[in-house]
Amino acid sequence: MSYSKGKLKKYHLLKRNQTLAVKLPKTVRYTQRRLVSMLNRYGVVVIKPNFGRLGRGIIKVALLDGSQYEIHHQGQKSNVVGNENLLDFLKKKMLRKRYIIQEFIPLLKVGDQVMDVRVMVQRKARSEEWVVTGKCAKLAHKDYFTSNAATSIKPVEEVLKASAPNVSSMWVKIYKDLDQVTMEIAIHLQRYYPKQKEIGVDLGIDTNGMIWIIEANYKPMTAMFARLDNPSTLKKILSFRKKHGIQR
Ligand SMILES: Nc1ncnc2c1ncn2[C@@H]1O[C@H](COP(=O)(O)OP(=O)(O)O)[C@@H](O)[C@H]1O
Ligand SMILES: [Mg+2]
Repeated sequence: MSYSKGKLKKYHLLKRNQTLAVKLPKTVRYTQRRLVSMLNRYGVVVIKPNFGRLGRGIIKVALLDGSQYEIHHQGQKSNVVGNENLLDFLKKKMLRKRYIIQEFIPLLKVGDQVMDVRVMVQRKARSEEWVVTGKCAKLAHKDYFTSNAATSIKPVEEVLKASAPNVSSMWVKIYKDLDQVTMEIAIHLQRYYPKQKEIGVDLGIDTNGMIWIIEANYKPMTAMFARLDNPSTLKKILSFRKKHGIQR
């Protein structure tokens, strides 16, 4: 059996693992009715194309008081009143076929920049052994809530040490947990995608230091690792790739 690589399918597969399930923001397939109920339950949600990448087409919606909503899309914010206006507004922005709705996670900020972490996990051609080969922190542009169009890429330890006090005091533990969660994801997903040799995992850290799984990317890019001052991470990633001829 071969599984879809859409975001919703990967969410459901990851949810089968108890350790990972608690780290997944609640996710459902988009329908107008579910949007209203997710907003009532979580207050803030993100809407994403099921097959999206590079943060394109991601919309954040927040329920303010009464029936007022704030919509945040590509650095721009708009307010609308009432469900009907909300749904009309979204319809014009949502041009893809399938979308998901996800609970919004208030991610850690560094100054006024939201950040999340990319962890690269790989295995060599004929090896079953997964290895975390690199991590970096992606800092979003200040008006953005998505970190894809990152203005800066930094070493994770540097960013954790400089973050909120309760997080910086736990940075060593969080740093190790990022690897742990990523390994768990790789080993778990291997059952369903046995040919996969590498996964780029996007992990969020909230203001309490809790780790959230944002996404497991199956065609991870290496460009962001090239932006780290120290070239050793990129070298390691590329050395794993050489063994099975992936070129990106
Ligand atoms: N549930 C969420 N809560 C908070 N921020 C999110 C959430 N989902 C995504 N983001 C932000 O948007 C970025 C892109 O989301 P992602 O699911 O990785 O989509 P894409 O496939 O377009 O990269 C993430 O790296 C993160 O910065
Ligand atoms: Mg992503």
